[in-house]
Amino acid sequence: MNVLIITAHPEADSFNSYLASEAARIFEKQGSLVHSVNLYRENFEPCEGQNFYTHMQDVGRFDALREQRHHWNVNKLPDDVTRHIELLKNSDLLLLHFPFWWFGMPAILKGWMDRVFVYGGIYDSKHRHEIGIMKGKRALLTVTAGAPANACGHNGRHGDMRFLLWPPIHALHYIGYTMLEPYLIHGVRGGLDGLAKEKQQQFLDEKVKDFKSRLININAWPIIPFNKEEDFNEDKTLKPHSPEYSPFVRHNRGNWKTDPI
Ligand SMILES: Cc1cc2nc3c(=O)[nH]c(=O)nc-3n(C[C@H](O)[C@H](O)[C@H](O)COP(=O)(O)O)c2cc1C
Repeated sequence: MNVLIITAHPEADSFNSYLASEAARIFEKQGSLVHSVNLYRENFEPCEGQNFYTHMQDVGRFDALREQRHHWNVNKLPDDVTRHIELLKNSDLLLLHFPFWWFGMPAILKGWMDRVFVYGGIYDSKHRHEIGIMKGKRALLTVTAGAPANACGHNGRHGDMRFLLWPPIHALHYIGYTMLEPYLIHGVRGGLDGLAKEKQQQFLDEKVKDFKSRLININAWPIIPFNKEEDFNEDKTLKPHSPEYSPFVRHNRGNWKTDPI
């Protein structure tokens, strides 16, 4: 198996970087070919913009989708994007390691998606979701949070972290990945000293052990269910008897005040 590990953390000595390197070791030991990328280490430029496009189709106005598709078609995408697309295409399993920053992924990772998931090449209207370009490949998010687990649960003060991860989970599924349930580690706090630091280390050691034992058995990892094309009407709304897998695609509005003005 070919495994691609993408880490979005600025510190090589961080817990996130350590987890990513442990994951690499597990798969290498199993005989997989592992390629590891740290977006910070390679100074990945996350802000999509006109400056990357050397053969603009419309020089008067920057339309990101138009230029992505055109540069894909004429084989003139930026070198870093071309390399990352090759890495994605050549791997069977994608591991994304990142810390939870402001209730989502770090900007560098969001920007990686903006630039690398190229319209016209990585997705278009005929290649999305279960028939996406990355069909047959699996992806796993491993995310650490500073807040404790109960504050990130379904009734926690910070909101349900599993749901807050919908944007990257949905984005990866949108381009065809089979999504594994994310691995979340809460209470990863820095700046501790003395006994508190020791206790924290014990807790993290346990988590690493658990994570590794699950990776060894990756084929048993639970998969996130998604609605398929046949579950939707022509107008892209959920059919009455289709299953409901998430609060983001649901039959009833529910009790929340979410009516747009
Ligand atoms: C810019 C920034 C934003 C953060 N936002 C959150 C957050 O929204 N929720 C949370 O639980 N922790 C938050 N944290 C804490 C990090 O998630 C925590 O420090 C990290 O997961 C620890 O992993 P590391 O030791 O590998 O950095 C934030 C930290 C930083 C630096």
